[in-house]
Amino acid sequence: MANSLEVRGVSLRFGGVRALTDVSFAIKDGELFSIIGPNGAGKTSIVNCISGRYKPTEGHLFYGDRDITGLTPNARASLGIGRTFQNLALFHHMSVLDNIMVGRHHLLKNNFLTGSLYWLTGARKEELEHRRKVEEIIDFLDLQSVRKATAGTLSYGLRKRVELARAMALEPRLILLDEPMAGMNFEEKEDMARYIVDLNEEFGMTVVMIEHDMGVVMDISHRIMVLDFGKKIAEGDPATVLADPHVRRAYLGEEDEVLVDPDDAPPAQESAA
Ligand SMILES: Nc1ncnc2c1ncn2[C@@H]1O[C@H](COP(=O)(O)OP(=O)(O)OP(=O)(O)O)[C@@H](O)[C@H]1O
Ligand SMILES: [Mg+2]
Repeated sequence: MANSLEVRGVSLRFGGVRALTDVSFAIKDGELFSIIGPNGAGKTSIVNCISGRYKPTEGHLFYGDRDITGLTPNARASLGIGRTFQNLALFHHMSVLDNIMVGRHHLLKNNFLTGSLYWLTGARKEELEHRRKVEEIIDFLDLQSVRKATAGTLSYGLRKRVELARAMALEPRLILLDEPMAGMNFEEKEDMARYIVDLNEEFGMTVVMIEHDMGVVMDISHRIMVLDFGKKIAEGDPATVLADPHVRRAYLGEEDEVLVDPDDAPPAQESAA
């Protein structure tokens, strides 16, 4: 299968802080790829390099065959790279519907400058098409009951879902999710995990997910990369990564203890719910 994204020798420094050191990896089209690692390991930094928010100090990024290292975030979004943020970035005073519409602005051919020609140009037809797409996403993420609600009034879990909806509205080929389940309860996490699997399988989106919940990561990822102090220390399928001694030491802080396979682990959280 073709590569969706290739990161080649990326380093990133902030003054004296080495956020990333010579990180290389490739993600195949259609993959659900997770990035894990302790706090400050460089996970958000690498995602920011992919989205274009940060410019690497060294190295290159390729999207398909194209070198995107020098492209702006907007140019990358137009190529089909979408994202959500670790900290919610919704417009709190706007409705759910409008927040999702905002996600489509890269796809709007007719902007406010041509607005006066609204009825004469294809603008109305275009808007109807946008509405249709947005409704499809609202259905997919089960947001019908809150579509008119003000985003800021929703529960945290729902707001994270609206943010996902907005990222999906761009119709990305590659979607970057920075801790989509952080702060969620067990049920919300389960729902979110299902949506992520579905958008990967049904919508065919390639997914890059940063997530701390190891159970979810092991459960739904095709492959996992582990960062520690800005360096890649492991990469592979879930079983390989779980078995890796570097991962146990660095990420899980364990020396020789045997890790519990998530499939064999008792559903502790479930019984608490
Ligand atoms: N804009 C910035 N300016 C200065 N230093 C930064 C900046 N962004 C990240 N860093 C530093 O780079 C390192 C990696 O940070 P990053 O946010 O990528 O980690 P992370 O793995 O996402 O951590 P977390 O799990 O806490 O979200 C940290 O030392 C952080 O302080
Ligand atoms: Mg982070």
